[in-house]
Amino acid sequence: MISWSDGYVTEIEYTHGFYRELAPAHLRFALLCAGLSLPPEQGFTWAELGCGQGFTANLVAAANPQGHFFATDFNPSHIATAHRFQSAAALDNITFSENSFEQYVEADLPPLDYVCLHGIYSWISPENRAHIVEFMRRHLKPSGVVYISYNCYPGWAALMPLQRLIYEQGQASGGPILERVDQALQFVQRLSDSDSGYFKVNPLAVQRLGQLQKQNRHYLAHEYFNEHWHPLFVTQVAAELSPAKLMFAASANLLDHIDALNIPQSARELFASVKDPLQRQLLKDYLINQQFRRDLFIRGAVRLSSLEQLEKLRQQGFVLTQPAASIPFKFQSALGEVSLQADIYRPLIEVLSQGPATLGQLTQHADLKQLSLERLLEALMVLVGANWAAPTLPEADLAQRRQSTERFNQAVLDQSQYGADLQFLASPLTGSGVGLDRIEQLLLVGLIRKQAAAAFAWGVLSAQKQTLVKDGQPLKTAEENLQELRQKETLLVQQRLPLLKQLQVVA
Ligand SMILES: C[S@@+](CC[C@H](N)C(=O)[O-])C[C@H]1O[C@@H](n2cnc3c(N)ncnc32)[C@H](O)[C@@H]1O
Repeated sequence: MISWSDGYVTEIEYTHGFYRELAPAHLRFALLCAGLSLPPEQGFTWAELGCGQGFTANLVAAANPQGHFFATDFNPSHIATAHRFQSAAALDNITFSENSFEQYVEADLPPLDYVCLHGIYSWISPENRAHIVEFMRRHLKPSGVVYISYNCYPGWAALMPLQRLIYEQGQASGGPILERVDQALQFVQRLSDSDSGYFKVNPLAVQRLGQLQKQNRHYLAHEYFNEHWHPLFVTQVAAELSPAKLMFAASANLLDHIDALNIPQSARELFASVKDPLQRQLLKDYLINQQFRRDLFIRGAVRLSSLEQLEKLRQQGFVLTQPAASIPFKFQSALGEVSLQADIYRPLIEVLSQGPATLGQLTQHADLKQLSLERLLEALMVLVGANWAAPTLPEADLAQRRQSTERFNQAVLDQSQYGADLQFLASPLTGSGVGLDRIEQLLLVGLIRKQAAAAFAWGVLSAQKQTLVKDGQPLKTAEENLQELRQKETLLVQQRLPLLKQLQVVA
Protein backbone atom coordinates (compact mmCIF):
# COMPACT_ATOMS: atom_id res chain seq x y z
CA MET A 1 0.00 0.00 0.00
CA ILE A 2 1.29 3.48 -0.83
CA SER A 3 1.37 5.55 2.35
CA TRP A 4 -0.90 8.62 2.40
CA SER A 5 1.50 10.40 4.74
CA ASP A 6 4.16 11.37 2.14
CA GLY A 7 6.84 11.05 4.83
CA TYR A 8 4.95 13.30 7.27
CA VAL A 9 4.58 12.17 10.92
CA THR A 10 1.08 10.72 11.38
CA GLU A 11 1.71 8.26 14.21
CA ILE A 12 0.87 10.84 16.83
CA GLU A 13 -1.29 13.92 16.79
CA TYR A 14 -0.09 17.51 16.76
CA THR A 15 -0.61 20.03 19.57
CA HIS A 16 -3.72 22.26 19.84
CA GLY A 17 -2.03 25.62 19.33
CA PHE A 18 -3.63 28.95 18.53
CA TYR A 19 -1.80 31.31 16.16
CA ARG A 20 -3.11 34.86 16.31
CA GLU A 21 -1.42 35.82 13.02
CA LEU A 22 -4.17 33.84 11.24
CA ALA A 23 -6.93 36.08 12.63
CA PRO A 24 -8.36 38.34 9.89
CA ALA A 25 -8.09 41.49 12.06
CA HIS A 26 -4.39 40.83 12.63
CA LEU A 27 -3.77 40.13 8.92
CA ARG A 28 -5.63 43.32 7.96
CA PHE A 29 -3.66 45.43 10.43
CA ALA A 30 -0.31 44.11 9.08
CA LEU A 31 -1.43 44.92 5.51
CA LEU A 32 -2.69 48.35 6.54
CA CYS A 33 0.65 49.18 8.19
CA ALA A 34 2.30 48.28 4.87
CA GLY A 35 -0.09 50.65 3.05
CA LEU A 36 -1.91 47.90 1.13
CA SER A 37 -5.60 47.49 0.30
CA LEU A 38 -7.55 45.18 2.59
CA PRO A 39 -9.79 42.17 1.99
CA PRO A 40 -13.48 42.79 2.74
CA GLU A 41 -14.67 42.89 6.35
CA GLN A 42 -17.98 41.19 5.58
CA GLY A 43 -18.55 37.89 3.80
CA PHE A 44 -14.85 37.18 3.31
CA THR A 45 -13.52 33.69 2.58
CA TRP A 46 -10.55 32.17 4.48
CA ALA A 47 -8.89 28.77 4.09
CA GLU A 48 -6.22 27.02 6.10
CA LEU A 49 -3.96 24.31 4.64
CA GLY A 50 -2.64 21.77 7.17
CA CYS A 51 -4.92 22.94 9.98
CA GLY A 52 -3.76 20.26 12.45
CA GLN A 53 -6.38 19.81 15.18
CA GLY A 54 -8.29 22.78 13.75
CA PHE A 55 -8.30 24.76 16.98
CA THR A 56 -7.10 28.01 15.37
CA ALA A 57 -9.56 27.59 12.48
CA ASN A 58 -12.49 26.88 14.83
CA LEU A 59 -11.57 29.82 17.06
CA VAL A 60 -11.30 32.38 14.26
CA ALA A 61 -14.52 31.04 12.69
CA ALA A 62 -16.33 31.49 16.02
CA ALA A 63 -14.93 34.97 16.50
CA ASN A 64 -15.68 36.08 12.92
CA PRO A 65 -19.16 34.77 12.04
CA GLN A 66 -19.24 37.35 9.21
CA GLY A 67 -16.67 35.24 7.30
CA HIS A 68 -16.73 31.80 5.62
CA PHE A 69 -13.97 29.45 6.76
CA PHE A 70 -12.47 26.31 5.19
CA ALA A 71 -9.66 24.11 6.46
CA THR A 72 -7.99 20.87 5.48
CA ASP A 73 -5.58 18.32 6.92
CA PHE A 74 -4.93 14.81 5.65
CA ASN A 75 -4.68 13.30 9.13
CA PRO A 76 -8.17 11.86 9.90
CA SER A 77 -7.62 12.05 13.67
CA HIS A 78 -6.98 15.79 13.34
CA ILE A 79 -10.12 16.37 11.29
CA ALA A 80 -12.20 14.16 13.60
CA THR A 81 -11.08 16.32 16.55
CA ALA A 82 -11.78 19.51 14.59
CA HIS A 83 -15.31 18.27 13.72
CA ARG A 84 -15.99 17.30 17.30
CA PHE A 85 -15.11 20.74 18.54
CA GLN A 86 -16.98 22.46 15.69
CA SER A 87 -20.13 20.63 16.68
CA ALA A 88 -19.61 21.28 20.43
CA ALA A 89 -19.43 25.01 19.61
CA ALA A 90 -22.24 24.75 16.98
CA LEU A 91 -20.25 26.59 14.31
CA ASP A 92 -21.94 26.69 10.90
CA ASN A 93 -19.46 28.95 9.05
CA ILE A 94 -16.55 26.49 8.82
CA THR A 95 -16.04 23.39 6.66
CA PHE A 96 -13.25 20.96 7.47
CA SER A 97 -11.99 18.51 4.82
CA GLU A 98 -9.86 15.45 5.30
CA ASN A 99 -7.95 16.20 2.08
CA SER A 100 -4.27 16.13 1.23
CA PHE A 101 -2.89 19.30 -0.35
CA GLU A 102 -2.97 17.52 -3.70
CA GLN A 103 -6.66 16.59 -3.29
CA TYR A 104 -7.63 20.03 -1.98
CA VAL A 105 -6.51 21.64 -5.24
CA GLU A 106 -9.67 20.10 -6.75
CA ALA A 107 -11.97 21.13 -3.86
CA ASP A 108 -15.15 23.00 -4.65
CA LEU A 109 -14.46 26.30 -2.91
CA PRO A 110 -15.52 29.90 -3.45
CA PRO A 111 -12.76 32.31 -4.54
CA LEU A 112 -10.66 32.96 -1.44
CA ASP A 113 -9.65 36.22 0.24
CA TYR A 114 -7.14 34.51 2.55
CA VAL A 115 -5.10 31.33 2.34
CA CYS A 116 -3.19 30.56 5.54
CA LEU A 117 -0.57 27.94 6.30
CA HIS A 118 1.33 27.88 9.54
CA GLY A 119 4.21 25.50 10.20
CA ILE A 120 3.77 23.61 6.92
CA TYR A 121 5.79 24.86 3.98
CA SER A 122 9.31 23.89 5.12
CA TRP A 123 8.23 20.48 6.51
CA ILE A 124 6.87 18.92 3.32
CA SER A 125 8.24 17.59 0.01
CA PRO A 126 8.90 19.85 -2.99
CA GLU A 127 5.96 18.07 -4.71
CA ASN A 128 3.61 19.04 -1.90
CA ARG A 129 4.92 22.61 -1.98
CA ALA A 130 4.00 22.64 -5.68
CA HIS A 131 0.45 21.38 -4.86
CA ILE A 132 0.08 24.26 -2.40
CA VAL A 133 1.16 26.80 -5.01
CA GLU A 134 -1.28 25.28 -7.51
CA PHE A 135 -4.03 25.55 -4.85
CA MET A 136 -3.24 29.26 -4.48
CA ARG A 137 -3.13 29.75 -8.26
CA ARG A 138 -6.59 28.22 -8.63
CA HIS A 139 -8.42 29.44 -5.57
CA LEU A 140 -7.08 32.83 -4.47
CA LYS A 141 -8.97 35.99 -5.55
CA PRO A 142 -7.24 38.94 -7.19
CA SER A 143 -5.83 40.92 -4.22
CA GLY A 144 -6.18 37.75 -2.10
CA VAL A 145 -3.66 37.33 0.69
CA VAL A 146 -1.47 34.39 1.70
CA TYR A 147 -0.13 33.97 5.23
CA ILE A 148 2.79 31.54 5.11
CA SER A 149 5.25 30.71 7.89
CA TYR A 150 8.36 28.60 7.47
CA ASN A 151 11.81 27.80 8.79
CA CYS A 152 14.31 29.91 6.91
CA TYR A 153 17.96 30.56 6.24
CA PRO A 154 20.39 31.76 7.35
CA GLY A 155 19.16 31.06 10.91
CA TRP A 156 18.86 27.29 10.41
CA ALA A 157 22.18 26.84 8.57
CA ALA A 158 24.26 26.00 11.65
CA LEU A 159 21.46 23.85 13.10
CA MET A 160 20.76 21.65 10.07
CA PRO A 161 23.19 18.92 11.24
CA LEU A 162 21.43 18.87 14.64
CA GLN A 163 18.05 18.31 12.98
CA ARG A 164 19.45 15.63 10.70
CA LEU A 165 21.05 13.70 13.56
CA ILE A 166 17.86 13.77 15.64
CA TYR A 167 15.95 12.56 12.57
CA GLU A 168 18.48 9.77 11.81
CA GLN A 169 18.48 8.60 15.42
CA GLY A 170 14.69 8.58 15.42
CA GLN A 171 14.68 6.30 12.38
CA ALA A 172 17.42 4.02 13.73
CA SER A 173 15.74 3.04 17.02
CA GLY A 174 12.45 1.12 17.08
CA GLY A 175 9.44 1.55 19.37
CA PRO A 176 6.68 4.10 19.85
CA ILE A 177 7.44 7.55 18.47
CA LEU A 178 7.45 9.41 21.80
CA GLU A 179 10.05 6.97 23.15
CA ARG A 180 12.09 7.42 19.99
CA VAL A 181 12.05 11.20 20.50
CA ASP A 182 13.45 10.72 24.02
CA GLN A 183 16.06 8.19 22.85
CA ALA A 184 17.19 10.42 19.99
CA LEU A 185 17.55 13.42 22.30
CA GLN A 186 19.51 11.38 24.85
CA PHE A 187 21.84 10.08 22.16
CA VAL A 188 22.49 13.52 20.69
CA GLN A 189 23.02 14.95 24.19
CA ARG A 190 25.69 12.30 24.84
CA LEU A 191 27.39 13.26 21.60
CA SER A 192 27.27 16.94 22.53
CA ASP A 193 28.85 16.08 25.92
CA SER A 194 31.61 14.01 24.21
CA ASP A 195 33.94 16.57 22.67
CA SER A 196 32.11 16.59 19.34
CA GLY A 197 33.77 18.98 16.88
CA TYR A 198 30.36 20.03 15.48
CA PHE A 199 29.00 21.06 18.87
CA LYS A 200 32.34 22.74 19.78
CA VAL A 201 32.21 25.15 16.87
CA ASN A 202 28.42 25.58 17.03
CA PRO A 203 27.46 26.81 20.51
CA LEU A 204 24.02 27.66 19.09
CA ALA A 205 23.45 23.91 18.56
CA VAL A 206 24.36 23.15 22.21
CA GLN A 207 21.97 25.86 23.36
CA ARG A 208 19.19 24.59 21.06
CA LEU A 209 19.65 21.01 22.24
CA GLY A 210 19.23 22.22 25.83
CA GLN A 211 15.96 23.94 24.84
CA LEU A 212 14.68 20.84 23.00
CA GLN A 213 15.01 18.70 26.11
CA LYS A 214 12.28 20.82 27.77
CA GLN A 215 9.82 20.91 24.83
CA ASN A 216 6.53 19.11 24.17
CA ARG A 217 7.34 15.68 22.66
CA HIS A 218 4.39 15.80 20.23
CA TYR A 219 5.69 19.11 18.88
CA LEU A 220 9.24 17.71 18.63
CA ALA A 221 8.08 14.63 16.72
CA HIS A 222 6.33 16.82 14.14
CA GLU A 223 9.21 19.29 14.01
CA TYR A 224 12.14 16.85 13.76
CA PHE A 225 10.93 13.44 12.60
CA ASN A 226 9.59 14.33 9.16
CA GLU A 227 11.29 12.88 6.13
CA HIS A 228 11.07 16.30 4.50
CA TRP A 229 12.61 19.22 6.27
CA HIS A 230 13.72 22.11 4.11
CA PRO A 231 14.40 25.58 5.50
CA LEU A 232 14.12 28.16 2.69
CA PHE A 233 15.38 31.63 1.89
CA VAL A 234 12.66 34.27 1.61
CA THR A 235 13.70 34.81 -2.01
CA GLN A 236 13.20 31.08 -2.73
CA VAL A 237 9.69 31.16 -1.29
CA ALA A 238 8.89 34.25 -3.36
CA ALA A 239 10.14 32.49 -6.50
CA GLU A 240 8.08 29.38 -5.73
CA LEU A 241 4.89 31.40 -5.14
CA SER A 242 5.28 33.52 -8.28
CA PRO A 243 3.37 31.08 -10.58
CA ALA A 244 0.32 31.88 -8.40
CA LYS A 245 1.01 35.57 -9.24
CA LEU A 246 1.93 36.28 -5.64
CA MET A 247 4.25 39.05 -4.48
CA PHE A 248 5.80 39.62 -1.09
CA ALA A 249 3.56 42.12 0.77
CA ALA A 250 4.71 42.42 4.40
CA SER A 251 5.64 40.49 7.50
CA ALA A 252 2.72 39.30 9.66
CA ASN A 253 4.98 40.00 12.66
CA LEU A 254 4.47 43.69 13.42
CA LEU A 255 7.87 43.91 15.11
CA ASP A 256 9.49 43.12 11.73
CA HIS A 257 8.01 46.35 10.32
CA ILE A 258 10.11 48.52 12.61
CA ASP A 259 13.66 48.95 11.30
CA ALA A 260 14.99 50.21 14.66
CA LEU A 261 14.25 46.74 16.10
CA ASN A 262 15.91 44.82 13.27
CA ILE A 263 18.67 46.83 11.61
CA PRO A 264 21.78 47.48 13.74
CA GLN A 265 22.99 51.09 13.67
CA SER A 266 26.17 50.06 11.87
CA ALA A 267 24.18 48.44 9.04
CA ARG A 268 21.70 51.28 8.39
CA GLU A 269 23.64 52.76 5.45
CA LEU A 270 24.09 49.38 3.80
CA PHE A 271 20.41 48.57 4.35
CA ALA A 272 19.30 51.92 2.92
CA SER A 273 21.35 51.24 -0.23
CA VAL A 274 19.20 48.17 -1.06
CA LYS A 275 15.97 49.25 -2.77
CA ASP A 276 14.34 45.99 -3.87
CA PRO A 277 11.77 45.03 -1.18
CA LEU A 278 12.55 41.31 -1.34
CA GLN A 279 16.30 41.82 -1.22
CA ARG A 280 15.74 44.05 1.82
CA GLN A 281 13.93 41.15 3.51
CA LEU A 282 16.83 38.85 2.68
CA LEU A 283 19.36 41.33 4.01
CA LYS A 284 17.30 41.72 7.19
CA ASP A 285 17.33 37.93 7.62
CA TYR A 286 21.14 37.99 7.44
CA LEU A 287 21.34 40.91 9.88
CA ILE A 288 19.29 39.12 12.55
CA ASN A 289 20.14 35.52 11.58
CA GLN A 290 16.42 34.88 11.03
CA GLN A 291 15.18 31.30 11.63
CA PHE A 292 11.44 31.54 11.15
CA ARG A 293 9.43 33.85 8.96
CA ARG A 294 5.76 34.76 9.00
CA ASP A 295 5.12 36.33 5.60
CA LEU A 296 2.20 37.85 3.80
CA PHE A 297 2.09 37.53 0.03
CA ILE A 298 -0.54 39.19 -2.11
CA ARG A 299 -1.99 38.44 -5.53
CA GLY A 300 -2.04 41.87 -7.11
CA ALA A 301 -1.18 44.49 -4.50
CA VAL A 302 -3.23 47.69 -4.58
CA ARG A 303 -1.41 50.48 -2.76
CA LEU A 304 -3.51 52.82 -0.63
CA SER A 305 -2.90 56.54 -1.03
CA SER A 306 -1.31 58.06 2.09
CA LEU A 307 -4.60 59.78 2.92
CA GLU A 308 -6.63 56.57 2.60
CA GLN A 309 -4.12 54.67 4.72
CA LEU A 310 -4.24 57.41 7.36
CA GLU A 311 -8.04 57.43 7.44
CA LYS A 312 -8.20 53.67 7.88
CA LEU A 313 -5.51 53.76 10.56
CA ARG A 314 -7.40 56.46 12.48
CA GLN A 315 -10.51 54.25 12.47
CA GLN A 316 -8.61 51.16 13.63
CA GLY A 317 -9.33 50.22 17.24
CA PHE A 318 -6.96 48.62 19.76
CA VAL A 319 -7.38 46.81 23.06
CA LEU A 320 -4.93 45.46 25.62
CA THR A 321 -4.63 41.66 25.72
CA GLN A 322 -2.49 41.63 28.88
CA PRO A 323 -3.39 43.24 32.20
CA ALA A 324 -1.60 46.62 32.23
CA ALA A 325 0.12 45.71 35.52
CA SER A 326 1.75 42.64 33.99
CA ILE A 327 3.23 44.36 30.92
CA PRO A 328 6.96 44.22 31.62
CA PHE A 329 8.01 47.32 29.63
CA LYS A 330 10.81 45.36 28.02
CA PHE A 331 11.00 42.56 25.49
CA GLN A 332 13.43 40.58 23.37
CA SER A 333 13.71 42.06 19.91
CA ALA A 334 15.76 40.49 17.11
CA LEU A 335 18.63 42.76 18.21
CA GLY A 336 18.38 41.97 21.93
CA GLU A 337 16.48 43.35 24.91
CA VAL A 338 14.57 46.57 24.31
CA SER A 339 13.16 48.78 27.07
CA LEU A 340 9.96 50.63 26.26
CA GLN A 341 10.22 54.42 26.49
CA ALA A 342 8.24 55.29 29.61
CA ASP A 343 7.07 58.73 28.42
CA ILE A 344 5.30 57.09 25.45
CA TYR A 345 4.20 53.68 26.70
CA ARG A 346 3.11 54.50 30.28
CA PRO A 347 0.39 56.97 29.29
CA LEU A 348 -0.63 54.88 26.26
CA ILE A 349 -1.03 51.69 28.31
CA GLU A 350 -2.81 53.62 31.04
CA VAL A 351 -5.32 55.02 28.54
CA LEU A 352 -5.85 51.60 26.90
CA SER A 353 -6.33 49.98 30.29
CA GLN A 354 -9.53 52.04 30.58
CA GLY A 355 -10.97 50.40 27.44
CA PRO A 356 -10.52 49.92 23.70
CA ALA A 357 -9.85 53.01 21.61
CA THR A 358 -9.23 53.85 17.97
CA LEU A 359 -5.96 55.45 16.90
CA GLY A 360 -7.98 58.58 16.07
CA GLN A 361 -9.38 58.68 19.63
CA LEU A 362 -5.93 58.10 21.11
CA THR A 363 -4.45 61.06 19.21
CA GLN A 364 -7.19 63.27 20.76
CA HIS A 365 -6.80 62.00 24.33
CA ALA A 366 -5.64 64.69 26.77
CA ASP A 367 -2.88 62.44 28.17
CA LEU A 368 -1.51 61.54 24.72
CA LYS A 369 -1.79 64.83 22.86
CA GLN A 370 1.96 65.40 23.08
CA LEU A 371 2.57 62.27 20.95
CA SER A 372 2.42 62.40 17.16
CA LEU A 373 0.22 59.93 15.27
CA GLU A 374 3.36 58.25 13.88
CA ARG A 375 4.77 57.73 17.37
CA LEU A 376 1.48 56.35 18.64
CA LEU A 377 1.16 54.03 15.65
CA GLU A 378 4.67 52.67 16.13
CA ALA A 379 3.99 52.13 19.83
CA LEU A 380 0.77 50.27 18.99
CA MET A 381 2.65 48.12 16.48
CA VAL A 382 5.13 47.23 19.23
CA LEU A 383 2.31 46.42 21.68
CA VAL A 384 0.59 44.22 19.08
CA GLY A 385 3.90 42.66 17.99
CA ALA A 386 4.78 41.81 21.60
CA ASN A 387 1.27 40.33 22.08
CA TRP A 388 0.21 42.86 24.72
CA ALA A 389 -2.49 44.44 22.55
CA ALA A 390 -4.58 43.50 19.52
CA PRO A 391 -6.42 45.33 16.76
CA THR A 392 -10.20 45.25 17.26
CA LEU A 393 -13.05 44.53 14.85
CA PRO A 394 -15.78 47.12 14.13
CA GLU A 395 -18.51 47.58 16.79
CA ALA A 396 -21.33 46.93 14.31
CA ASP A 397 -21.52 43.12 14.50
CA LEU A 398 -20.32 42.72 18.07
CA ALA A 399 -23.58 41.20 19.32
CA GLN A 400 -23.57 38.53 16.59
CA ARG A 401 -19.91 37.75 17.29
CA ARG A 402 -20.60 37.50 21.02
CA GLN A 403 -23.20 34.77 20.43
CA SER A 404 -20.75 32.49 18.62
CA THR A 405 -17.77 33.21 20.90
CA GLU A 406 -19.96 32.40 23.92
CA ARG A 407 -20.67 28.95 22.45
CA PHE A 408 -17.00 28.46 21.57
CA ASN A 409 -15.79 29.53 25.02
CA GLN A 410 -18.33 27.27 26.72
CA ALA A 411 -16.99 24.35 24.67
CA VAL A 412 -13.40 25.16 25.73
CA LEU A 413 -14.39 25.52 29.40
CA ASP A 414 -16.33 22.22 29.28
CA GLN A 415 -13.19 20.57 27.93
CA SER A 416 -11.02 21.98 30.75
CA GLN A 417 -12.54 19.38 33.09
CA TYR A 418 -10.77 16.65 31.12
CA GLY A 419 -7.38 18.04 30.11
CA ALA A 420 -5.10 20.97 29.45
CA ASP A 421 -5.01 20.84 25.62
CA LEU A 422 -7.03 23.97 24.88
CA GLN A 423 -5.38 27.10 26.21
CA PHE A 424 -7.28 29.92 24.49
CA LEU A 425 -10.71 31.51 24.59
CA ALA A 426 -12.21 33.65 21.81
CA SER A 427 -12.81 37.41 22.00
CA PRO A 428 -15.64 38.91 19.93
CA LEU A 429 -13.87 42.27 20.20
CA THR A 430 -10.64 41.22 18.49
CA GLY A 431 -11.93 38.23 16.50
CA SER A 432 -8.94 36.41 17.94
CA GLY A 433 -7.79 34.31 20.91
CA VAL A 434 -6.91 35.13 24.52
CA GLY A 435 -4.57 32.81 26.41
CA LEU A 436 -5.98 31.17 29.56
CA ASP A 437 -4.40 28.01 30.97
CA ARG A 438 -6.35 25.04 32.29
CA ILE A 439 -6.12 26.03 35.96
CA GLU A 440 -7.37 29.53 35.14
CA GLN A 441 -10.16 27.98 33.07
CA LEU A 442 -11.24 25.71 35.94
CA LEU A 443 -11.19 28.67 38.33
CA LEU A 444 -13.25 30.68 35.85
CA VAL A 445 -15.81 27.85 35.61
CA GLY A 446 -16.03 27.88 39.42
CA LEU A 447 -16.54 31.67 39.46
CA ILE A 448 -19.19 31.54 36.69
CA ARG A 449 -21.04 28.82 38.65
CA LYS A 450 -20.77 31.07 41.72
CA GLN A 451 -18.96 28.37 43.67
CA ALA A 452 -15.80 28.66 45.77
CA ALA A 453 -13.54 28.62 42.69
CA ALA A 454 -10.38 27.16 44.28
CA ALA A 455 -12.36 24.34 45.90
CA PHE A 456 -14.17 23.65 42.62
CA ALA A 457 -10.87 23.45 40.66
CA TRP A 458 -9.33 21.23 43.34
CA GLY A 459 -12.37 18.96 43.19
CA VAL A 460 -11.82 18.43 39.44
CA LEU A 461 -8.04 17.95 39.73
CA SER A 462 -8.03 15.70 42.78
CA ALA A 463 -10.74 13.45 41.27
CA GLN A 464 -8.25 12.83 38.42
CA LYS A 465 -5.36 12.36 40.89
CA GLN A 466 -3.68 15.52 39.54
CA THR A 467 -1.80 18.08 41.59
CA LEU A 468 -0.32 21.52 40.97
CA VAL A 469 3.39 22.06 40.43
CA LYS A 470 5.14 24.98 42.09
CA ASP A 471 8.79 25.91 41.43
CA GLY A 472 9.19 22.60 39.60
CA GLN A 473 7.93 20.56 42.58
CA PRO A 474 4.52 18.82 42.77
CA LEU A 475 2.44 20.07 45.70
CA LYS A 476 1.65 17.04 47.86
CA THR A 477 -1.14 17.83 50.29
CA ALA A 478 -4.68 19.01 49.58
CA GLU A 479 -4.05 22.09 51.73
CA GLU A 480 -0.92 23.06 49.73
CA ASN A 481 -2.85 22.69 46.48
CA LEU A 482 -5.82 24.66 47.75
CA GLN A 483 -3.59 27.45 49.01
CA GLU A 484 -1.90 27.71 45.60
CA LEU A 485 -5.27 27.65 43.86
CA ARG A 486 -6.56 30.44 46.13
CA GLN A 487 -3.55 32.57 45.17
CA LYS A 488 -4.24 31.90 41.51
CA GLU A 489 -7.91 32.75 42.04
CA THR A 490 -6.93 36.11 43.57
CA LEU A 491 -4.70 36.90 40.57
CA LEU A 492 -7.45 35.82 38.18
CA VAL A 493 -10.07 37.98 39.88
CA GLN A 494 -7.81 41.02 40.27
CA GLN A 495 -5.96 40.99 36.95
CA ARG A 496 -7.26 38.59 34.31
CA LEU A 497 -11.01 38.87 34.93
CA PRO A 498 -11.20 42.66 34.30
CA LEU A 499 -9.24 42.04 31.08
CA LEU A 500 -11.48 39.15 30.01
CA LYS A 501 -14.49 41.43 30.60
CA GLN A 502 -12.88 44.20 28.56
CA LEU A 503 -12.26 41.70 25.75
CA GLN A 504 -15.91 40.58 26.16
CA VAL A 505 -14.79 36.99 26.70
CA VAL A 506 -16.90 36.89 29.87
CA ALA A 507 -19.97 39.02 30.64
C1 LIG B 1 3.33 21.03 12.06
S1 LIG B 1 1.65 20.65 11.83
C2 LIG B 1 0.95 22.26 11.86
C3 LIG B 1 -0.51 22.25 12.17
C4 LIG B 1 -1.15 23.62 12.32
N1 LIG B 1 -1.01 24.40 11.11
C5 LIG B 1 -0.55 24.32 13.51
O1 LIG B 1 0.35 25.14 13.30
O2 LIG B 1 -0.96 24.01 14.63
C6 LIG B 1 1.54 20.21 10.11
C7 LIG B 1 0.18 19.70 9.71
O3 LIG B 1 0.15 19.48 8.28
C8 LIG B 1 -0.52 18.28 8.00
N2 LIG B 1 -0.01 17.78 6.69
C9 LIG B 1 1.25 17.41 6.40
N3 LIG B 1 1.34 17.04 5.12
C10 LIG B 1 0.10 17.18 4.58
C11 LIG B 1 -0.45 16.96 3.28
N4 LIG B 1 0.30 16.51 2.29
N5 LIG B 1 -1.76 17.24 3.08
C12 LIG B 1 -2.54 17.71 4.10
N6 LIG B 1 -2.07 17.92 5.36
C13 LIG B 1 -0.76 17.67 5.59
C14 LIG B 1 -0.18 17.37 9.16
O4 LIG B 1 -1.13 16.32 9.35
C15 LIG B 1 -0.15 18.35 10.32
O5 LIG B 1 -1.40 18.45 10.95
